[in-house]
Amino acid sequence: MKTRIAVLVSGGGTNLQALIDAENAGKIPHGEIALVISNNPNAYALERARQAGIPAAVISRKECGGDQQKFEQWIQMTLERDGIDLIILAGFMCILTEKFTSKWPNRILNIHPSLIPSFCGSGFYGLHVHEAALERGVKVTGATVHFVNEIPDGGPILLQKAVAVEQGDTPETLQRRVMEQAEWILLPQAAEMVSEMIENQRKDS
Ligand code: GAR
Repeated sequence: MKTRIAVLVSGGGTNLQALIDAENAGKIPHGEIALVISNNPNAYALERARQAGIPAAVISRKECGGDQQKFEQWIQMTLERDGIDLIILAGFMCILTEKFTSKWPNRILNIHPSLIPSFCGSGFYGLHVHEAALERGVKVTGATVHFVNEIPDGGPILLQKAVAVEQGDTPETLQRRVMEQAEWILLPQAAEMVSEMIENQRKDS
């Protein structure tokens, strides 16, 4: 049986799209994207899920009255209901607490748009990461896929890829290059690596 993957999103969903395209191209033979969860009802990622025929759920913190525990319980219930084995955070802009992450050891992946440990941790997300990299004047940046634990961007690193910063880059041009040259390549690779690992563990047990 294939590893059942849930992709958690908040925005545009280009990383979700890279996963969908990779699965359709046969590049994730050990996994299947079984569910998309968004905390944002207006996320374009939901439209991408709809077009790909993937079931989607919206669980917003607002609906949970801003209660983090309730928010995480809803996510947990939905994942269990759908028999999910692996969670991929693909531009999911909510921090998950230890209460949640400890239930999924080595079962949550995140993509971060820098070479961790640079420009990561609380406050570093989306375009802010590239703004900080340009401000610091680094000549090389990149992306990282890592396992998620209770420390924001602090879990074990699985894959990294470097990307050059170019003269005249804006946060937007740098973000796009990091996505094209690193994120959209690394995330499907990581999805397959961990899906295969989970499938093998299932066979052994
Ligand atoms: C991506 O660049 C992702 O690496 C980043 O947000 C963007 C989401 O884009 N994630 C973080 O900053 C997490 N700390 P997408 O919705 O088009 O995939």
